[in-house]
Amino acid sequence: MSHRTASEHVMPTFVPPRTPWPRAAVFVGLRFLLGTVGRLSAGVRIGWRRGFDSGESLDHVYRNVAEGITPLGRLVDRIYLGSRGWRAIRQRKAHLQETLRSVVERVHAEGRPIHLVDIAAGPGRYVLEALQAMSHLEPSAVLRDQSPAALEAGRRLAATLGVGRVRYVQGDAFDRDTLARLTPTPTIAIASGLYELVPDNRRVLDSLCGLRDGLADDGYLIYTNQPWHPQLELIARVLTNREGRPWVMRCRPQAEIDGLVRLAGFGKVGMRTDEDGIFTVSVARGSGSRDGRRPRRIEGVSGPRQPG
Ligand SMILES: C[S@@+](CC[C@H](N)C(=O)[O-])C[C@H]1O[C@@H](n2cnc3c(N)ncnc32)[C@H](O)[C@@H]1O
Repeated sequence: MSHRTASEHVMPTFVPPRTPWPRAAVFVGLRFLLGTVGRLSAGVRIGWRRGFDSGESLDHVYRNVAEGITPLGRLVDRIYLGSRGWRAIRQRKAHLQETLRSVVERVHAEGRPIHLVDIAAGPGRYVLEALQAMSHLEPSAVLRDQSPAALEAGRRLAATLGVGRVRYVQGDAFDRDTLARLTPTPTIAIASGLYELVPDNRRVLDSLCGLRDGLADDGYLIYTNQPWHPQLELIARVLTNREGRPWVMRCRPQAEIDGLVRLAGFGKVGMRTDEDGIFTVSVARGSGSRDGRRPRRIEGVSGPRQPG
């Protein structure tokens, strides 16, 4: 008899439990290289210090300027920044910004205030640049993250870019109750690069339900997903995450994340993806009044906090 819970049955890690030796040896060698000479590269150093999945790590990838100690360090950084996964991340950033621009214009055309929240923004460069470009619409933003270092980096970046009307707030992106009480009430919410960090669909659903409760009536949710990744095993065996543990990504088929978004009470209205289909950026819209919302019962996914 299986002792696994319902959610464990639907969450393969996509990384084989054991790597055959020729490939394992390559991973050991690569880890050694990145832990020694690799530290000459600014990006690799940020990755080891903060986690390769950290907001600061992504910010270095977005800047895409090779930096390092000595020309060798800059060469390693250029190779690192040019990896297929990081190129797709920069494409995701472009898609996020295009999506955000069109959603902001829609909210403005509806005569509603533009209050943004990003629940795991890191330094939030993509939001800050978008706010800069749309300053005539007077948007405001609350950029949240769990990491104080990422928030501090964001405050510095906002000052450098001269972006006002933005607040950086520490908080847990999976805490349903906090998300349900966001102020000012957001008309647009962003969850980018977050859900693939956690395998458990119940936590993702908690986060989505919190956003559904916290968003204004008919508010918009912009969410990203990672259906697959070409370097999944290499990343899991070689790189560490923000907790210093192997960075095992939880890829989700698009139908799976869209299903969770729908269960939380949103209706999907659009999606962009890169040519390899590694990352998607989707838009969904809540419907109905905040008062009329009911917590949902979701068989096999919901946790003990669901009503009976
Ligand atoms: C891969 S980065 C993505 C950053 C940014 N959203 C982007 O798309 O570039 C993941 C971010 O999620 C943050 N994070 C991870 N777990 C979190 C949690 N429970 N609550 C809030 N932020 C969290 C990390 O600190 C990090 O900044």
